[in-house]
Amino acid sequence: MKNRAAYMTGLNKMEIREIEVPVPKEKEVLVKLEYVGICGSDVHYLEHGKIGDFVVNGDFILGHECAGTIVAVGSKVESLKIGDRVALEPGITCGQCEFCKAGKYNLCPDVEFLATPPYHGSLMNYIAFPENMAFKLPDNVSTKEGALVEPLAVGLHAAAQGGVKLGDKVVILGAGCIGLVTLLACKAYGATDVTVVDVIEKRLEVAKKLGATTVINAKNENTIQKIAELTGGKGVDKVIETAGSEYTIKQAPYLVKRGGTIVLVGLAPKDIIEFDFMQIMTKEAEIKSVFRYRNLYPAAIGAIADGKIDVKGIVTHEFDFEDSKKAFDFVIENKADVVKAVIKI
Ligand SMILES: NC(=O)c1ccc[n+]([C@@H]2O[C@H](COP(=O)([O-])OP(=O)(O)OC[C@H]3O[C@@H](n4cnc5c(N)ncnc54)[C@H](O)[C@@H]3O)[C@@H](O)[C@H]2O)c1
Ligand SMILES: [Zn+2]
Ligand SMILES: [Zn+2]
Repeated sequence: MKNRAAYMTGLNKMEIREIEVPVPKEKEVLVKLEYVGICGSDVHYLEHGKIGDFVVNGDFILGHECAGTIVAVGSKVESLKIGDRVALEPGITCGQCEFCKAGKYNLCPDVEFLATPPYHGSLMNYIAFPENMAFKLPDNVSTKEGALVEPLAVGLHAAAQGGVKLGDKVVILGAGCIGLVTLLACKAYGATDVTVVDVIEKRLEVAKKLGATTVINAKNENTIQKIAELTGGKGVDKVIETAGSEYTIKQAPYLVKRGGTIVLVGLAPKDIIEFDFMQIMTKEAEIKSVFRYRNLYPAAIGAIADGKIDVKGIVTHEFDFEDSKKAFDFVIENKADVVKAVIKI
């Protein structure tokens, strides 16, 4: 067994190196990885070397959206066996703090999250991982779909934070990977009218294919005016911001209905943004935010297996592990064309 990892060795630099095959601890499984998705955060680390306070220091392995097949198990592993295919939930938490104990483990201050410095990611052949963060995939769910469970979980959490329910009218700002998985999630939760807004036509086409009721190209149309027209001036039940731009974040209060909810998912390039709180007050609107996800892998996998969510539709490009650097270069140079790229290990 030979293990190799794709290391980021500097800004826009990567190389594949041989590393040890890890030995699984008592409650760990050894997974032969098959697919790793390229996330916006991986690309950001490679291009800029940091996200907020998380700074890449030295050689660093990217990748956190992953799935593969178990090839060895620790002595105390009970629920999984060799040959099981699994999706890995990338955040390992302390299990002891008040947030972990309350089940809101995504808020654990001591989380060790794959490809978030100082913790390496999973762009490699073999990884040892805790049994309780490895989720078995049913026969009809591929490991490619397994790698997409991670972003899908963000979309499911966004819809859950917004309390999206049967019959809701929703606006999703942004049709990147996160906007599109949020679309899939909202439909699965029963939203019957979902409008997706972006400035890239190709992404809006994907949104249409994935079931958006209406798409708005904000380059050609005024989103606030258009939503007013579509809703008789009332606004929508839920506005989910996934573009991460100051412009769209500021739009949200004008799009939401009285008593509705705004969910902030996108990370804006700056921390402090002016917001029309008077709109929020007079509408008694709620603002919710999203930090990753919690307790959603089983639901996400179940929804894919059941056909309620077709997550494969967001993958636009696939690369070989050997071409990891090429894959990242391609994603960086073709941002408008790539919705989601995955690396086949
Ligand atoms: N809160 C969380 O836990 C969490 C998790 C994952 C990602 N994120 C964040 O979610 C955001 C989306 O991630 P992604 O991978 O989909 O990124 P992305 O860059 O692929 O998607 C953003 C989309 O917004 C569109 N957009 C930009 N400006 C716009 C405007 N003015 N009007 C309409 N659309 C506009 C872009 O064209 C793009 O398609 C990022 O900010 C990312 O950091 C947050
Ligand atoms: Zn991701
Ligand atoms: Zn904790």
